[in-house]
Amino acid sequence: MSSSLFARPAIVAASSAHPTALLPTIQARGKTSISSLMASHGGFLAKRQYEPPSWASHLSPIPSHTYSLGHLPTPVHKWNLPNLPDETEVWIKRDDLSGMQLSGNKVRKLEFLMAEALAQGADCVITVGGIQSNHCRATAVSAKYLNLDCYLILRTSKALVDKDPGLTGNLLVERLVGAHIDLVSKEEYAKIGSEALADLLRRRLIEEGRKPYVIPVGGSNSLGTWGYIEAVREIEQQSQTDKIQFDDIIVACGSGGTIAGLSLGTKLSSLQAKVHAFSVCDSPEYFYNYTQGLINGLQAGVDSHDIVNIQDAKGLGYALNTNEELKFVKQIAEDTGVVLDPVYSGKAAIAMLKDMKENPAKWKARKVLFIHTGGLLGLYDKVGEMASMVGNWRKMQIDETVPRIDGTGKMF
Ligand SMILES: Cc1ncc(COP(=O)(O)O)c(C=O)c1O
Repeated sequence: MSSSLFARPAIVAASSAHPTALLPTIQARGKTSISSLMASHGGFLAKRQYEPPSWASHLSPIPSHTYSLGHLPTPVHKWNLPNLPDETEVWIKRDDLSGMQLSGNKVRKLEFLMAEALAQGADCVITVGGIQSNHCRATAVSAKYLNLDCYLILRTSKALVDKDPGLTGNLLVERLVGAHIDLVSKEEYAKIGSEALADLLRRRLIEEGRKPYVIPVGGSNSLGTWGYIEAVREIEQQSQTDKIQFDDIIVACGSGGTIAGLSLGTKLSSLQAKVHAFSVCDSPEYFYNYTQGLINGLQAGVDSHDIVNIQDAKGLGYALNTNEELKFVKQIAEDTGVVLDPVYSGKAAIAMLKDMKENPAKWKARKVLFIHTGGLLGLYDKVGEMASMVGNWRKMQIDETVPRIDGTGKMF
């Protein structure tokens, strides 16, 4: 696919239209930020006026601006998975490639959420997630790009709540970019809830004279939903250019915002594919209700049950994996080069292939688009469990008679 050649659609670069509407400048915020230097080039990190796709123009409210945070459009390519039903094609949209330290599906939501934070004059953002939350890492990075401080409330086990959380995976990036981390135990989280925790921190920061903006778990509110409405516009254009009509779209679901935008956009656009979501926590019924709330917040007038099919893929529980699941991640990487994360896309891909195996007639000759939502950094949390699954190393045999040849890479 030539998807990387697409220009980002229908978003007017505010930096050229309104020079004064650039990101906060060095003078305005009193700090040097990479964003103030880069935004003037009109691309990455630029503020842009937002025009929704025509098929979404009746939704309300429509955001006025976004900040360009993702490397978009992300590529779509054929995914040569083994043992597919007859004539079934699986393609993969690489939202894991939407950036590097700022990557995955959350980037799309943050483009809208960060724009609102800045429009409201925030000087910091607060968000909440699990100890290896990809969303928290993406929020921390995008906040720093936009010259905001970031406060994270991370959920961990009771035994670890008062210990240094370490530097594994997402934590390394969060701590490198200087995010403030408050640890809470799973029990405290379950008792008080993410909203009350964020509100507690928000009030403390206001008392200190700060102007915090709260981003909900996973960036999943009605504003964040626009991120995947936009992704549908991207897929629509990629399908048209490459003349491929997808019958099904498959994605993991963790807090609901991705499926809300994806399924609503698919319903309204020319895509008309069936959207299947595999939930990795809570229950499908919980997500039908939660998604309904998000799309009601956009006055969409549709029933979540009519636009997405949600199935349970939680397995042992959120962020917990069996050995078989981790082996699957390893095998798919070895077979196809695509590294799935075991918490989200790994579980969704397992559930997809299981259904294809059990019901081959249902999937025969269908063109399926699987959305890889990122999460590679979370895989570092599993290295202990995966160590025994990876081999392929040895001390290189070098005969003493091998002569020296001068060349590049003279390291010593
Ligand atoms: C890598 C990854 N994939 C998928 C999801 C699920 O997306 P959503 O929270 O929008 O349901 C998340 C976050 O929860 C994630 O971090």
